[in-house]
Amino acid sequence: MTLSRRIDEACAAVRFVTDLVPRVGLVLGSGLGAASIGVEDQVVIPYARIPHVPMPSVQGHRGELSLGRVGKMGVAVLSGRVHLYEGHGVEDVVMAVRMLARLGMETLVVTNAAGSTRPQLRPGALVLVTDHLNLTGEDPTRGPEAAGLGPRFTNLTDAYDPGLLALFRRAAADVGVEMAEGVYAASKGPCYETPAEVRMLASMGADLLGMSTVPEVIACRHMGLRVAAVSCVTNLAAGIEGSHPDHEEVGRIASQASGRLALLVARFLELVGEA
Ligand code: HPA
Repeated sequence: MTLSRRIDEACAAVRFVTDLVPRVGLVLGSGLGAASIGVEDQVVIPYARIPHVPMPSVQGHRGELSLGRVGKMGVAVLSGRVHLYEGHGVEDVVMAVRMLARLGMETLVVTNAAGSTRPQLRPGALVLVTDHLNLTGEDPTRGPEAAGLGPRFTNLTDAYDPGLLALFRRAAADVGVEMAEGVYAASKGPCYETPAEVRMLASMGADLLGMSTVPEVIACRHMGLRVAAVSCVTNLAAGIEGSHPDHEEVGRIASQASGRLALLVARFLELVGEA
């Protein structure tokens, strides 16, 4: 079955439940729910009921799509994602956002947990992603040119939309949440980096290290959407001030930051709705 056909089948399963058109979509990492960012009148659909959208296997990633509204604006929230490190192909990793794009999504916001290569970006810091380094070895636009998805050669200049970055800066000021800015480097994982790799990545311009986000961003740029991403720093990267990254700590710090992240994203959604 072609990719385009699989996306259509996933869309049909959602359309069977609701005719709401999501203008904005959010991919939430662990510890943040749709209610916390002010989405009302939600319909919740487990990924298990949507063909071709894989279920996450990582603890803390729920695996459900919520569709609702912020003001008059349709919003879709993907709570939980699948990662390349779970063994999924990149096509599966981006299936849910491709489905939302075909359902009408114009803007995607991705959140993630990340390690920091900069001692001044401490655990708990929220960081607006301004650009990325794709070190996954994957590109979701590789392969047969699927009809109706996007061009062969996707332009990733300004991949993180300048207008959305401006709205995020305004949202942060409005709610009084501190927000830094940085470049996110994605690897396939699941091992954390070695201290030598962290030094290399820092010298290459990476401020944030993670294992997600970049495939979804590329897929959505390919389909012509506007994209923004916010990282929550959960740890100093390996070797920085003697750091030993630990999955449990990553989850704990992400949950602690989720209240501030929710405030920020909720205000951002209001601003997008007004724009
Ligand atoms: N490296 C890569 N991915 C991560 C990290 C890290 O230090 N912390 C959370 N996700």
